[in-house]
Amino acid sequence: MILPIYIYGQPVLRKVTRDIDPGNYPNLKELISNMYETMYAADGVGLAGPQVGLEDRIFVVDLAPLASAEHPEFKDFKKAFINAHITDRSGEELLVEEGCLSLPGIHEKVPREDKICITYLDEDLQPHDETYEGYMARVIQHEYDHLDGIMFIDRLSPLRKRMIKGKLTNMEKGKVACDYKIKPVR
Ligand code: NI
Repeated sequence: MILPIYIYGQPVLRKVTRDIDPGNYPNLKELISNMYETMYAADGVGLAGPQVGLEDRIFVVDLAPLASAEHPEFKDFKKAFINAHITDRSGEELLVEEGCLSLPGIHEKVPREDKICITYLDEDLQPHDETYEGYMARVIQHEYDHLDGIMFIDRLSPLRKRMIKGKLTNMEKGKVACDYKIKPVR
């Protein structure tokens, strides 16, 4: 089932999420399946709980659409991250363009560290403690930020923030157009 994606201005996008109790979370598999379906329908590569209105510590990623000769490893990078916690960030800080399904029409270069360590449960509730680098680390950090109520626009320079102010004001007023199912402010 395709869920509506919450748009900037919706308060849930600013909430710090809580760990879920995986043994006591009805329809977890169904939720994950709906999150993938919602993400694919919107041509995204990542989607976090707050973007579908949930204050739960969960996100999904599928980098397959970005697979290339240079990055064949993206083809099989489809994962759910439950109760994710980044335990270390290191490496060079790089500026790379990002977008977000909750911020339609905004694409900006975002500074992020190049390497992370993260603990999480996968969708079969198996625990993992892994290290990621490069674009994988970037996408994970973007989605992880959503779990802490942070959006990529928060990481921009004051100048770039001023440049997108008008678009954000429109979104806060519910003025937003996109070709996927959304839940605007009003
Ligand atoms: Ni996002």
